[in-house]
Amino acid sequence: MSTFKVVVSNIQQITPLIKQFSFIREDGASFPPFSGGSHVVVAMNINGRLHRNPYSLMGSPQAPDAYHIAVRLQEHSRGGSAYLHHEVKVGSQLEITYPNNLFALDKRARKHLLVAGGIGITPFMSQIDDLIRTKANYELHYAYRSQDHAAFTSALKEKCAERVHVYVESEGLSIDLKALLSKQPLGTHVYVCGPNAMVVALIETARSLGWPENHIHSEQFLAPPSGEPFKVKLAKSNIEVHVPAEMSMLEAIEAAGVDAPYSCRGGACGRCELEVIRTDGVLVHQDHYLSEADKAAGKKIMPCVSRAKCQSLEINL
Ligand code: FES
Repeated sequence: MSTFKVVVSNIQQITPLIKQFSFIREDGASFPPFSGGSHVVVAMNINGRLHRNPYSLMGSPQAPDAYHIAVRLQEHSRGGSAYLHHEVKVGSQLEITYPNNLFALDKRARKHLLVAGGIGITPFMSQIDDLIRTKANYELHYAYRSQDHAAFTSALKEKCAERVHVYVESEGLSIDLKALLSKQPLGTHVYVCGPNAMVVALIETARSLGWPENHIHSEQFLAPPSGEPFKVKLAKSNIEVHVPAEMSMLEAIEAAGVDAPYSCRGGACGRCELEVIRTDGVLVHQDHYLSEADKAAGKKIMPCVSRAKCQSLEINL
């Protein structure tokens, strides 16, 4: 995957748990423009192990002098968010991929209804710039736990004025999804990014109200869950790779020096799909990409988040 070498040019503490990082290119050139909702994958060498985490790009897609991401310090960080928060300083060098958009605005929508929970606000920060620039009809509904978690609210209120609606859980406010979705005009597309419970609830509510499937958009990158260690045989490379409990299958394959395709690294895009040749156990599917029928058939696996419970697994790589 093509990458840029970048230097951290600015770090801002946005909330007690969220920092914003700005990157400029090491070669001094501009970055390419991107579309709202795009993400990049940041590569970090942590104690000799390469971590690659996806983060949404914020800021104006049309002003590519710098790229900006916001990172929430995760309570059970696998390394990436803790490293960015505690080790990365202004002047640190990192590597990021070219932007990729798995959460693009649908230009055919008559209205865009954006629903964010917590750090799930980040992809909307660039989408809103696109919506304002194109004079599109939109509304943002943004829920977070308490005022301590109020990331970017002042900037959003300044930019979006009456189009932004804020819900602070500690003040007893929450989004009434059914009421919100019920009153939208025909041709509205809804976009949701936030905690799993919110994403699932919104999708189910929209479906129950008869929203067309292609008008419902969600983004949810999963952190690779840990699990039991297992071995995977790479048939084409003819090597066997040990997948430890705390590494994803994709990370273990990369650590073994084998190039494997990926984009989101969070079980959403389908880019890392691998063909299963055989296993003597069961596949533990954790992605949002494969259909239930595909998962049951056991012929495909998304190694960025899924694992196996087995003595041996052979894949076509
Ligand atoms: S890289 Fe996107 S599903 Fe695995």
